[in-house]
Amino acid sequence: MSKLFSPITIRGEEIPNRVFVAPMCQYSSETEDGHASAWHTVHYGTRAVGGAGLVMLEASSVRADGRITPWDLGIWDDSHVTSMGPVVEAIVGNGATPAIQLAHAGRKAAHGKPWEGSKMLSASEGGWETIAPSPISFQEDWNVPREMTLDDIGQLVDDFASAAKRSVNAGMKVIELHMAHGYLGCEFLSPLSNQRDDQYGGSLENRARFPLEITKAVRSAIPDSMPLFVRVSATEYMDNGWDVDECVEFSRWLKDEGVDLIDCSSGGNSATQSLTPFPGYQVQFSARIRSEAEVTTGAVGLITEAAQAEKILDDGDADVILLARELLRNPYWPIHAQTELDGAAEWPDQYKRVAELRNR
Ligand SMILES: Cc1cc2nc3c(=O)[nH]c(=O)nc-3n(C[C@H](O)[C@H](O)[C@H](O)COP(=O)(O)O)c2cc1C
Repeated sequence: MSKLFSPITIRGEEIPNRVFVAPMCQYSSETEDGHASAWHTVHYGTRAVGGAGLVMLEASSVRADGRITPWDLGIWDDSHVTSMGPVVEAIVGNGATPAIQLAHAGRKAAHGKPWEGSKMLSASEGGWETIAPSPISFQEDWNVPREMTLDDIGQLVDDFASAAKRSVNAGMKVIELHMAHGYLGCEFLSPLSNQRDDQYGGSLENRARFPLEITKAVRSAIPDSMPLFVRVSATEYMDNGWDVDECVEFSRWLKDEGVDLIDCSSGGNSATQSLTPFPGYQVQFSARIRSEAEVTTGAVGLITEAAQAEKILDDGDADVILLARELLRNPYWPIHAQTELDGAAEWPDQYKRVAELRNR
């Protein structure tokens, strides 16, 4: 049996295989109040039918002002638990483990949908004041965020913990904290976006303080048996910026706080980052964090082939593989990949006739 399709147990959770659906914003909360819609049920349910071992819901905001767009999923109110019910049912009912990514978009909040140009929204267009560690905009023509006070920081830690409890109530079996891609946690980690002169800025210890406080609060808000993941940007691809050495150290601290898996992404905190992606371009970060921080990792980014995914696991560069765009192109990728690697795979009962000859 391939490694890719062998189960993995993380804390108390056995996940049926190592193909995980990476978090992907759908911008499809029709009511603009963070509630899941029929789109979410169909989209996530289909990826479970397709054979992924874990299906992770998109960046779901712990507060209304933490959304990238007004159409993002939210988990800041108990009513969100109810609307997520059918989504969780569609994932679990089709054999996959349901997970959720908790997020706050910081200075990258308050924009339009990508397919409408991701335009920054003014107050009259439904936008809002953004917050960040320091009053530095992501790029010149974007809003300058308000610098967070110590009260804001304490409130946000509580908001993440409350969102984690709601996620448990919604039936999620795994929680991931979004500390990558230039969103709030990542903004604190970077010496370029965090120029505070209090205990939350300056040294690596200080820049990591807020992300670690969130981690600690979430860990103690969820059951001991529940896996906790953190998504990091391993580097921001900028001179004098956050880099892999700092990320390895940060990963060690996350592990000490009870984080079970580091999901290794990169970039997104600077509009002028210098990056040319290539197949598996972020696997190197997973390999380093896995070996140097001695923690379970996930590899993500331009992984599209079964043999490529299997080799990453075989080489010991990661423990699980997250796929994003390839699973949008083909939700049945896991079934095809398992057929390629193991010679056979189970289609759902309702689809068994796909095994018949095409001309019958
Ligand atoms: C439509 C779309 C939405 C995304 N939304 C998120 C998100 O909510 N959270 C996140 O951490 N990454 C997000 N990403 C990044 C993916 O999870 C993934 O890291 C990236 O696309 C690289 O993987 P891939 O080459 O398999 O697509 C998104 C990517 C896409 C294409």
